[in-house]
Amino acid sequence: MKKTRTAQTLMSATLFVSISILAWGLLSPIALSQVAPNQAPVIKIPKLSATAAKGQKVFNGTCAKCHGVNATGSDKGPPLIHTIYNPGHHGDLAFYRAAKSGTPQHHWRFGNMPPQTNVTNEDIASIIRFIRETQEANGIFYRKHKM
Ligand code: HEC
Repeated sequence: MKKTRTAQTLMSATLFVSISILAWGLLSPIALSQVAPNQAPVIKIPKLSATAAKGQKVFNGTCAKCHGVNATGSDKGPPLIHTIYNPGHHGDLAFYRAAKSGTPQHHWRFGNMPPQTNVTNEDIASIIRFIRETQEANGIFYRKHKM
């Protein structure tokens, strides 16, 4: 009698552990994907200068499909309102270069950025104003880049 009860306890314990492992395995990817890429950080858009406001329009029309609306990032590209893109690490030239020639994947895992030949130098200048004014409103300032 005692023996079978022990066996039963052992069996239900084994069952419980296997179900837990199974449930964890099934549920955790869902839980992870909910916290992962699609949740754009909440950022503050300051009162933009006229040039920056124009840049915001061009940005949201052209760059947002990868970099997210207002450069908050998407599942196709990184946020630019991010300390990595402070002017000490990615100066204004990086924007002209990225738009003219694209940029190979190096900071993230979204793949390469293709050249954006539909934007003019003037567009890029206004995009830079938009990004810099928004960066500053979110506490991102020039920081000397250390390798
Ligand atoms: C097809 C997707 C896509 C589009 C459209 C796109 N980008 Fe990007 N961009 C990327 C990805 C991905 C990276 C990150 C590459 C890395 O560092 O791994 C990137 C990086 C950058 C960088 C950093 C370059 C560097 O030197 O590291 C800048 C600046 C930039 N993008 C600006 C823009 C601007 C401005 C536009 C619109 C004119 C734009 N991007 C449109 C995908 C895109």
